[in-house]
Amino acid sequence: MTRSHGTLVGYWDRQAPTYDARMAGVEYRFLADSRGWVCGRARGATLEIAIGTGANLPHYPEEVDLTGIDWSPAMLHAARRQGDRVHRAVTLQQADATALPFPAESFDTVVATFALCCIPNERAALLEALRVLRPGGRLLLADHVAASFWPLRALQHAVDLVSVPLHGEHYTRRPATTLRGLGLTAEESQRLAMGAIERVHVRKP
Ligand SMILES: C[S@@+](CC[C@H](N)C(=O)[O-])C[C@H]1O[C@@H](n2cnc3c(N)ncnc32)[C@H](O)[C@@H]1O
Repeated sequence: MTRSHGTLVGYWDRQAPTYDARMAGVEYRFLADSRGWVCGRARGATLEIAIGTGANLPHYPEEVDLTGIDWSPAMLHAARRQGDRVHRAVTLQQADATALPFPAESFDTVVATFALCCIPNERAALLEALRVLRPGGRLLLADHVAASFWPLRALQHAVDLVSVPLHGEHYTRRPATTLRGLGLTAEESQRLAMGAIERVHVRKP
């Protein structure tokens, strides 16, 4: 069973006010390092999909012209406050990552961090990201993925049985594999934390 669009947006709206505080430990240990890796590679007109509370905002180079989307109004509110706190200009818009309100080839870079794990249709979101990216543009991803260490991967499959129906969170996806299926190979990629975190840099042909 998968949850409806409206139910999931409501779920993320409820998470927003306390999300950063609850994630602080995980953020520090597992996520923060990948934010610098991903955002430091962004250039020019950049779109961040499923921006959440704006945890990436302090990590972008100053010259990047940044747009962020999320389907949750409460997450966008948190991202706006984070932008103010860190003095980072960002245009924020409510949108579904699988139906982006932008013309084809309108961005130099598209970023998604810890987002494809909970976007219901990961492949559709990647196709949309590629559509709005100009040829030669950079697709930069970081996410928790199916681990390379099999005991952890087995545990992730067990967690998926609960987390997917409950709030649409997937622990065993692998966006790099989905991208390969779309004919794209990573220019750079790294796996950390027993292979459970992966960051990928792909260029649109
Ligand atoms: C785990 S949070 C991650 C937020 C942020 N990217 C980060 O790195 O901290 C996932 C975010 O994805 C958003 N989201 C999930 N599915 C979405 C969709 N189809 N379109 C837009 N946003 C979506 C949620 O509202 C939430 O803000």
